[in-house]
Amino acid sequence: MIIDWPGLRAAAVGAAGRAYAPYSGLRVGAAGLAADGQVVTGCNVENASYGLTLCAECGLVSALHASGAGTLHASGTGAVHAVAGTLRAVAVVAGDGQPLLPCGRCRQLLLEAGGGDLLVDTAEGPVELKVLLPAAFTGTDLAARREER
Ligand code: THU
Ligand code: ZN
Repeated sequence: MIIDWPGLRAAAVGAAGRAYAPYSGLRVGAAGLAADGQVVTGCNVENASYGLTLCAECGLVSALHASGAGTLHASGTGAVHAVAGTLRAVAVVAGDGQPLLPCGRCRQLLLEAGGGDLLVDTAEGPVELKVLLPAAFTGTDLAARREER
């Protein structure tokens, strides 16, 4: 799959311009390329109750599913869970247009949306998410370790 990194970063810059960040003053935009070719975006949305702040990547993942670019699979047990792999590449930028590395929580969100092979734009070039989030907890661990109720 060909990834238009300048285009993806430009989409992230556009989203950053729509951020609501009156408290931190740090506008963030995120843009992701889905496996079906759709580009979805998100921006950070802050709140007077600081802890309620939504990172740009949260909005991106929500848009991924809301657009239909995300997929849901029913497992044999009837449990429904998101299957990693629909997001292929992501660019996150600050208001200055330069790449911003996702926070830890967002790395975990992106892992579920794109898997460890998801490419993340950095100032040094694309990096696989598994490098940014090694030894991650995933739905596989959840299935293997949960206790019968
Ligand atoms: N922020 C993001 O949008 N994404 C991240 O991964 C890092 C942090 C936002 C949240 C908050 O509005 C501002 O940056 C300062 O933390
Ligand atoms: Zn975050």
